[in-house]
Amino acid sequence: MTKKIVLAYSGGLDTSVLLKWLQQKYEAEVITVTLDVGQREDLKAIGEKAESLGAIKHYSIDAKDEFARKYVFPAIKANALYEGKYPVSTALSRPLIAEKLVEVAEKEGADAIAHGCTGKGNDQVRIEVSARALAPEIDVIAPVREWNMTRDAEIKFAEENGIPVPVDVDKPYSVDQNLWGRSVECGVLEHPDVEPPEEVYEWTVPPEKAPDKPEYLTIRFEEGVPIALNGEEMSPVSLIEALNSLAGKHGVGRIDHMEDRLVGIKSREIYECPAATVIIEAHRDLEKLVLTRHEVYFKQQVDGLWSILVYTGLWMDPLRMDLDAFIDEAERRVCGEVRVKLYKGALHVVGRSSPFSLYDLDLATYDIESTFDQSSSAGFIELWGLQTRIANALKRIGEKAGV
Ligand code: ARG
Repeated sequence: MTKKIVLAYSGGLDTSVLLKWLQQKYEAEVITVTLDVGQREDLKAIGEKAESLGAIKHYSIDAKDEFARKYVFPAIKANALYEGKYPVSTALSRPLIAEKLVEVAEKEGADAIAHGCTGKGNDQVRIEVSARALAPEIDVIAPVREWNMTRDAEIKFAEENGIPVPVDVDKPYSVDQNLWGRSVECGVLEHPDVEPPEEVYEWTVPPEKAPDKPEYLTIRFEEGVPIALNGEEMSPVSLIEALNSLAGKHGVGRIDHMEDRLVGIKSREIYECPAATVIIEAHRDLEKLVLTRHEVYFKQQVDGLWSILVYTGLWMDPLRMDLDAFIDEAERRVCGEVRVKLYKGALHVVGRSSPFSLYDLDLATYDIESTFDQSSSAGFIELWGLQTRIANALKRIGEKAGV
């Protein structure tokens, strides 16, 4: 019986070669799936290309809204930054892609799903762990892990099989894009000591070319997620897109990061994440206004763990959902407005307000008429430093005795 395989198809050279290769090597019927997660590509042309290369059916799925609400919004609530810097943009899209591949495979009665991830990266882990968690009976095929084709062999295969080779095939960069960010790897970027050439950036201008006038923005949050920009309520997708272009225009959102991949490799990663950079900074600031310090300290640990789970492909692990339960509860009071200033590549939070603010001017003011009772501080200090005092006294006795 002919095998049926559902392939995650981007329209690029690798997955186009894969599409032909699966038909030849596996004598399979291939169904292609392309998700729109905001990568700014021509989905119609991608579908036509798939069919011209022999896909028996093509699914083009607009998943932007679902991606924003079900993946990006939880990442905002969790202030998700892997190793303190990377807004996990690529990582967030992989479980959604896996889910859609499985859905199509089940609907079409396919035997397997296939993807074009290499054996050296994180994406293979993210797609496969998610797909296997959802549907263990469906096989996963990762041809790039086995075929060992060099770039030249791939181009030769493409030419022999009528696959259009893109004009910029000698551009050395590997790019992945979605609503939440753009990642660039390979070429000269593999030398971490070399500044990235300007040509790798597409969503941001260099700070020195940014406008000479600062721009102020107000972001309104409701239960931890952004709902309005400069007073105008917007859908999640429109708000993120608007911020990508506004912040990008001011050179905000460039990230140059030494990253630890799940498979152990250290890699130098370049990202452009203008909206993510602004939203997370603003969101974190608002949390510090409304959460108690105990919540803030604890949530920092939870956020760090959440980011690691998502980066390492464990979106489907119950722990991620357990953490989300805590986060959702804490975020109920994260409502209010944050004002930010964008200027020449820099981002500054310059104001914040909330109906749940714990800030009390009467307590905080250094003016004489403060309601804060300073006489309580003396007793507080006595107890707060009690053990520190005892430990230091003991240390001094030890030093005198020469031990
Ligand atoms: N290092 C990033 C991550 O692991 C980016 C991966 C980019 N993926 C790609 N297929 N180009 O999430």
